[in-house]
Amino acid sequence: MKGVILAGGLGSRLRPLTLVTNKHLLPVYDRPMIYYPMQTLLNAGINEILLVTGGEHAGDFLKLLGNGKALGLKDLHYTYQEGEGGIADALKLAEDFVDGGKVVVVLGDNIIEKNIKRAVADFFTQPTGGKIMLKDVPDPHRFGVARMDGDRVVEILEKPKDPPTNHAVIGIYMYDNDVFDICRTLKPSGRGELEITDVNNAYIERGDLTADSLDGWWTDAGTFESLYRAAKLVAEGGANHVGTEHMTRERVAPH
Ligand code: DAU
Repeated sequence: MKGVILAGGLGSRLRPLTLVTNKHLLPVYDRPMIYYPMQTLLNAGINEILLVTGGEHAGDFLKLLGNGKALGLKDLHYTYQEGEGGIADALKLAEDFVDGGKVVVVLGDNIIEKNIKRAVADFFTQPTGGKIMLKDVPDPHRFGVARMDGDRVVEILEKPKDPPTNHAVIGIYMYDNDVFDICRTLKPSGRGELEITDVNNAYIERGDLTADSLDGWWTDAGTFESLYRAAKLVAEGGANHVGTEHMTRERVAPH
């Protein structure tokens, strides 16, 4: 399976830090944010990756990552999202790269402690549809939130004022190739974006979305508070704590 990291957007919530570089190149403890989603994919055995970026500082990624070989990747591809049309808008750019197969998508500002190996292996054998990952959080109103009927996810609500559960939908998504047809049907949301939550709800309507719980901690890093928390979690937990010299398939720390 191929992997896609979405690292577009303008990072406006992190100004002035993002006036001079891309949000995903900011440090999280001792390395650039983008290393973490890369390691997430590598740990799951995915070493062909497309990086979708955007904004004024896209060239900085090339300086840092080059062709990806030093990081243990077989292939690193790049593409450029014009504007900030949303996560599903960025994903659309991956259609040729994915080339008819399945795909694992990771948001560039999502950091996990452990790994998604088992979920990816399960999705590999899932004949069709998609898979999302859930994590219980104290502040679900900041995220996509799963509404449940027993163990079944029946709807996802994007940043609800009154969350029905505390099950946040984390920024790691697995899809079959129909995702690109679904993306073509989307209309911009109230915030003017093509929402990944609408993609996931389309799979729910087809009865073809599975959900796994994520093991270990998870955080985004797109606000000052979450960027700080991410750095602390990495520093204290030594978790998905990788560096150029360790960018291999296996994690450094056993878990
Ligand atoms: O972190 C998980 C959450 O991510 C999910 O629970 C939400 O359902 C999902 O909508 C998303 O929420 P945010 O509003 O926090 O996402 P944000 O706009 O911060 O974008 C997250 C990443 O997606 C960002 O670091 C880069 C990528 N992105 C985002 C946009 C808007 C793009 O590549 N292009 C874009 O146009």
